[in-house]
Amino acid sequence: MKRRISIAIDGPAAAGKSTVAKLIAHRLSYVYIDTGAMYRALTYRALTCGIDIDDEQALLSLLRDTYIELKPSRHGQQVLVNGEDVTDVIRGEAVTKAVSWVAKHPLVREEMVARQRALAKGGGVVMDGRDIGTHVLPDAEVKIFLKASVEERARRRHEENIARGFPSDLETLKEEIARRDRLDSERETAPLRKAPDAVEIDTTSLSVEEVAERIMDIVNERIG
Ligand code: CDP
Ligand code: CDP
Repeated sequence: MKRRISIAIDGPAAAGKSTVAKLIAHRLSYVYIDTGAMYRALTYRALTCGIDIDDEQALLSLLRDTYIELKPSRHGQQVLVNGEDVTDVIRGEAVTKAVSWVAKHPLVREEMVARQRALAKGGGVVMDGRDIGTHVLPDAEVKIFLKASVEERARRRHEENIARGFPSDLETLKEEIARRDRLDSERETAPLRKAPDAVEIDTTSLSVEEVAERIMDIVNERIG
């Protein structure tokens, strides 16, 4: 039997992490863990409970009281917060604007990382985020860093919005993505970085299938 490894996929917003991570997990029959959804779930709770997102202690207490479930579903993944299905609402504008402020607090990250490591125990996981290869799973057998131009990433989100029938403005999306890139890469604790041993793939002019194939080649090399 092939050994079940851990695969870390990092990169900025809309680089294609979750799309490709889900595909790879499906092909390998691994568990997909979307760590961004965990930070988004806490942000959603903070906004609905009226918690100040600059108050680290209040966020930590709220997190300790927040049970986040990531469930595989027909459309990829369902996210439940204390039993409530928040899959769609956590992708909305309010959460997207606030999430990087919530995610910069060291105590919040410490608790999230503990949960993420517990989920990955035993291997057979594809985990995506910003600090997976550098911090959450430093011993992951495969580390991938996906990137793409900000124009292409904004274009991808714009197309997704249009397909869902949501209002969308390309320039605003570009600014929002650039702002989040900045906050995520400049924060002090576990910023967005490529791990020295990660393989970087520029997805700007690649299809989802081409990216998945490149990653599968690397995985197959490692698991023999
Ligand atoms: O899907 P998208 O790339 O837009 O974002 P996401 O992966 O859902 O992550 C949302 C936000 O959570 C990021 O912009 C980061 O601020 C934070 N995050 C993080 O700090 N560390 C992670 N491992 C994952 C997400
Ligand atoms: O998880 P992350 O924020 O990095 O990106 P995503 O949520 O997977 O969104 C990426 C979007 O770009 C999806 O609509 C994909 O279909 C599309 N896309 C991609 O993921 N990879 C490519 N190489 C080309 C397009």
